[in-house]
Formats: sequence, C-alpha cells, structure tokens
Amino acid sequence: MISKDELIKLVPQALNETNLKLAGKTSGKVRDWYDLPNGERLIVTTDRLSAFDVILAQVPFKGQVLNQLSAWWFEQTKDIVPNHIVSLPDPNVSIVKVAEPILVEVIVRGYITGVTSTALWYRYSLGEREIYGYTFPDGLQKNAELPEPIITPTTKGGATGHDERLTCAEVVEKGLLDAKTWDQIQKAALVIFKRGQEVARKAGLILVDTKYEFGIAKDGSVVLIDEVHTPDSSRFWKADSYEERFSAGEDPENFDKEFVRLEYAKQNYRGDGTPPVMSMELWAAASERYITIYELLTGKKFKAGAYPVEPRLIKNLRKAGIKL
Ligand SMILES: Nc1ncnc2c1ncn2[C@@H]1O[C@H](COP(=O)(O)OP(=O)(O)OP(=O)(O)O)[C@@H](O)[C@H]1O
Ligand SMILES: [Mg+2]
Repeated sequence: MISKDELIKLVPQALNETNLKLAGKTSGKVRDWYDLPNGERLIVTTDRLSAFDVILAQVPFKGQVLNQLSAWWFEQTKDIVPNHIVSLPDPNVSIVKVAEPILVEVIVRGYITGVTSTALWYRYSLGEREIYGYTFPDGLQKNAELPEPIITPTTKGGATGHDERLTCAEVVEKGLLDAKTWDQIQKAALVIFKRGQEVARKAGLILVDTKYEFGIAKDGSVVLIDEVHTPDSSRFWKADSYEERFSAGEDPENFDKEFVRLEYAKQNYRGDGTPPVMSMELWAAASERYITIYELLTGKKFKAGAYPVEPRLIKNLRKAGIKL
C-alpha cells in the first residue's frame, strides 16, 4: 500500500477534469465522457468525489479504483447479463458501447437503513409501513437485514436531481418500461446483487444496498451500464462487527464513502452553502479506503497508475489507436 504521506502529496495532483481533443465532451459528477466513432463512448472516471450532490474534492486513485473495480464486477457478472464494456485502454478509462439508459434507477436493498428521503429506514422511522409497495411489520430495528433483498426503484433525477420513489408496479404503469423488459431487469438485478453479497462476504464485508443502471443496446437487448458495486454506488459494512453492534443498537462500521459524509456532518455541513475546507489527511484516508476496498473485493493487489494522470492517459489512448 502507498504510504499516507505519499497519498497526501498526491492530493493536489489527483484528476479533477480532462480536456481531451475528442468530440462531444459531457461531464457528470464523477465522469467525463466523449463520443467515439461506431457507437462507442470513452468514459474517463476522474478522482472527483461527490457527496450531498456537491463535488467536494479530488481523491488520489479514486477514479482508477472505480473504473477497475467496476470492470472487475462486469467481468464477474457477464454470465447473468451482458454489459457495456469494450476495453480499458488506461486505468482510468473505459471504452463502452453506448446504450439508451432506462429511466429507472434500479436500487436493491438487503437491509433497512439510511437517513435520506428515499431511504427505507427514514420512511419507516416516519411511521410508514407501506414503502415502495412493500409492507413492513412493526418493531423493526434500524440496520436489520430484510428477509429477502428488495428492489426499490426511483426515477432518474435528470437535471433537477430529484429521484422520485416508485413501486415496481408503477415502473410499468407509468410507461417507463414494458412489463417484459422490467421483469428481465428485476430478475438480473437480484441475481447480480446476490453474487455481490457472496463476494463481499468472503472479503469480510456486507453489501448492504446498491444502485444499478441498465440500458437498451442498439439491437434492443438489455445491458448493464455505468458502474457496479463500487463504494460510490453501494453501501458496504464490516461483517465481523455487524452483529455485536446491531445488538447494542449501534450503527455498523461502514466501509464506503459514508465516513466522508460523517466528517462533514461533524462540522454541521449537510450540503447547503459553502462546504468547509477539510484536511489533506481526510482525502488521503479516503484514498486508502478506496484502494483497500478494491483489494478486499477483487483479491488483487492495487497497481497504482502513474501520476499525473492526464499525460499518461493521453499516451495510453494513442497507443490504443485513438486519434487525439
Ligand atoms: N453505456 C452507457 N451508455 C449511455 N450512458 C451511459 C453508459 N454508461 C454510463 N452512462 C451514463 O453516464 C453517466 C456517468 O457519469 P457520472 O457517474 O459522472 O454521472 P452522474 O449521473 O452525474 O453521477 P451520479 O451517478 O452521482 O448521478 C451517467 O449519467 C450514466 O447514466
Ligand atoms: Mg454515476
């Protein structure tokens, strides 16, 4: 593992933005993407860290971890559902097949937790017992495991960023998807989640919940797109301390980016106004977490790509035959 001191030194060099000489640059919160010929797209996963829907910092190697960890999961799940990956010409880059993203975020939850407005525990704590079309009994405790993982879809927020809760039936009733496609997606999502939970368990982690994005490929088939089982799209808890803490009524030890949110919450920041300035140590610690979770889940040693990222990336893309 790269030392904390080295990581601290790399914080200012972490990849914030790319400006490749390619057409159609678009930026999401974490990724920059560009159009390539023949229906492909080049996605650069940057080191940007977003929480509370705000970009808070750049974390060294975060982009590489997300890109390579997702690629690993895509490989692990391609027998369940095909995915968008074509190749990884650089540690931070995926070339993918463009798909038409479906208008539903497919969230799978194995536990009742979370404090945001769409979270199960938050709704339950308000007294709701019919949530996302499922009926919950009285007397549940926060962070309890559900009898079976469930799908709690939301609309894709788009520019306004507000995801609306849906029941599984509403996905079809509102005309977001046809019944057959939605059925196929739900089945695939539950199998991928189960596999994710098994892999996580072997790594000493609990895959608590996650978000999948699916798209429709040119030939009309369903493909898994975006990212899979990363600390940005999923909640992970430490497995060995879960039971004891649960019995004591304590929150589990998280192993995703929740700890960044908690550090901000300690300074009373919850997403409104100017975020407080955090220490370089926090971003180095975040970097360590991302690297550790990659190593735990994949069982592989993380091989840090050369910094700074952009010149390396350009060299690798040229080597892969992309004209820049
Ligand atoms: N194969 C694909 N075809 C079409 N669009 C894709 C494909 N894979 C990913 N995308 C889209 O690319 C974007 C990825 O960028 P990024 O994750 O930065 O976006 P974001 O949506 O702003 O972030 P967040 O995930 O926090 O909402 C997403 O909008 C995703 O739906
Ligand atoms: Mg995203």
